Amino acid sequence: MITVLDFGGQYSHLITRRIRECEVYSELLPYSTSPEILKRLNAKGIILSGGPASVYEKNAPKCDPRVFELGLPVLGICYGLQLMVDMLGGHVKSTTRSEYGKTSLKVIDHSDLFHSISPEIVTWMSHGDYAEKLPDGFEIIGTSVNCNSAAIRNSTSRYYGVQFHPEVAHTNQGTQIIKNFVQDICGCSPSWTAKSIIDTAVEQIRSSVGDHRVLAAVSGGIDSTTTAVLVQRALKNKLTCIFVNHGLLRKNEEHLVLQSLNELGLNVHYVDASEQFFQKLIGIKDSEQKRKIIGEEFIKVFDEASGKLGVFEWLAQGTLYPDVIESAGTGSVASRIKTHHNVGGIPQWSKFKIIEPLKLLYKDEVRKIAAELGIPDVLVKSHPFPGPGLAVRIIGEVNEDKLRICKDASAIVEETLKRHGLYEEVWQAFAVVGDDLGVGVLGDQRRLGHMVTVRIVKSVDGMTADWARIPEDVLEEMSSQITGEVTGVTWVGYTITSKPPSTIEPC
Ligand code: XMP
Repeated sequence: MITVLDFGGQYSHLITRRIRECEVYSELLPYSTSPEILKRLNAKGIILSGGPASVYEKNAPKCDPRVFELGLPVLGICYGLQLMVDMLGGHVKSTTRSEYGKTSLKVIDHSDLFHSISPEIVTWMSHGDYAEKLPDGFEIIGTSVNCNSAAIRNSTSRYYGVQFHPEVAHTNQGTQIIKNFVQDICGCSPSWTAKSIIDTAVEQIRSSVGDHRVLAAVSGGIDSTTTAVLVQRALKNKLTCIFVNHGLLRKNEEHLVLQSLNELGLNVHYVDASEQFFQKLIGIKDSEQKRKIIGEEFIKVFDEASGKLGVFEWLAQGTLYPDVIESAGTGSVASRIKTHHNVGGIPQWSKFKIIEPLKLLYKDEVRKIAAELGIPDVLVKSHPFPGPGLAVRIIGEVNEDKLRICKDASAIVEETLKRHGLYEEVWQAFAVVGDDLGVGVLGDQRRLGHMVTVRIVKSVDGMTADWARIPEDVLEEMSSQITGEVTGVTWVGYTITSKPPSTIEPC
C-alpha cells in the first residue's frame, strides 16, 4: 500500500483515488502519522500531499522527520515538494510569479517518474512558493516558465517532488505519472482489484466477527446491500438484515427494496417505523438536529428489533470512505461539513459493535465490487440515497404536505430522466421543497403554492459535483409534469451551483 500524508490540500483525497485506479491500495492519513504506524501498515511508498500553508510559516504542518529515514520512496506534491526541500536542507521562497491553473511543463528526464510521458505536458499548478535551493543530492527533472524546479529528484534516496498536481484531471498523463511512482519506483503490483477487495473484506469479517451473529441495516441502496451481501458471503446464515422504513423513502421504495433484497436471498426483517420517526421530527427545523434524531431513532429501532430476533453482537453498516473523510473521522485537517448519520450520529449507548466493510472504499469501487458480487444492475446503477432520506431534501420541518410533494416531484424527476436515457448519466437527481411559497394562477384564480427546486448533479464520488446541463426540453417536461400533477406546487426552479460552494443535498 501507499500512504498519502494529508497536509490539508483540497485534492488530497484525489491522490488516493488515482493510486487505487492504478490497482494499488492507498490510504489518506493525517500528516502527523508516526513512522511506526507507517511501518506497521507496511507502506511501500509515501506521498506528501499539497496544502494551503507555506513551509516557512510559524505553525506550518510538518511530518515527523523520521519519515525520511524509513528508506521508502517519497513523492512530494506542491506543498509536499516544498516541505521535503525545507526539511532536507534546501530553501523555499515566496515567488512574485505565482502559477495558478494550466501550466506547461517541460520534462528534462524520462528515466523514472516521467517514463513514457511526452516531452511537454499541460499540468495543473496552484502555488505561490517555490524551491529556490535544492537539498544536496537533488536535481531538476522538469521545469515550467515561472518555476525552474517544477519537478525534482534525488535518485539515490528515491525522493521525488512535483510542483504541479498530477492527481487533477487537468494534468495530462497525471495518472501515468502516479502509476510510474507507485508501480515502478515503489514496486507495488497492481493487485487491488474487485476480486481482491472482496476476498480481503470476507476474510476480515470472518476474523473479527467469529461465531457471533450480525445485524445488517439495509436500505436497498448500493452501500448497505453490498455490505449485507459481503457479510452473508463471509458468515452465511449468521446474518439477519433489518430494513427500517423511516417514512422518508422515495415513492414506493419500500416495496421495490423488499423485493430486491428477497431476490438476493438475504434474510430480511421489515420494520415499518414511519409514524415513530414522523412524530420525533415534528417541530424540528435544523438539519443537523434532524440527522441526529433520525440516527438515534434508527439505532433504537434496531435495538428493539434485535431484542425480538435473538442475540446479536454486531451491526453492519455501509459507511464509505468519503463519509469518513467528510465527517473528519480521519483525524486529519479536513473540517466537518455534515454529520452523516451513519458515522457521526451513533450514540455511545448503542450496544452493538460496528462492522463497516466498505469504510475504506469510494462509491465507484463499491459499484465495481457489487457487480462482481452479482448484485443486479437496477441496484448497482441506482442513485445514491442519503441515510436520513428525504429529511435532508425537505428544508425546515418535515410535514405531510412537504413529504408528499418531495416524494411525488422527485419521482417525476427520476422518471423523466429515465425516459430520456439520462438517469445513468448523472450522480443524483431529486426535488427539494421548503417553506417558500410563490404565486401561481390556476384557471383564472390566484393560487399560492410551494416552490420546488430540482437538483441534478454529476459527480464521481460525491466529494465534488457539477450541476448537470440537462436539455431545456427535458427540464420543461419535468416542470410541467410537477406543476400539473403534484398538488400544491406553483413554481419549479433548477439549481445551477456545483459542490463546492454548495453541497449536494440542501440540508
Ligand atoms: P453532500 O450533501 O454532503 O452529500 O454534498 C454528499 C453525498 O453524501 C450523501 N449524503 C448523506 N449520506 N447520510 C448519508 O448516508 C447523510 O446524512 C448524508 N448527507 C448527504 C448525499 O446524498 C451525496 O451523495
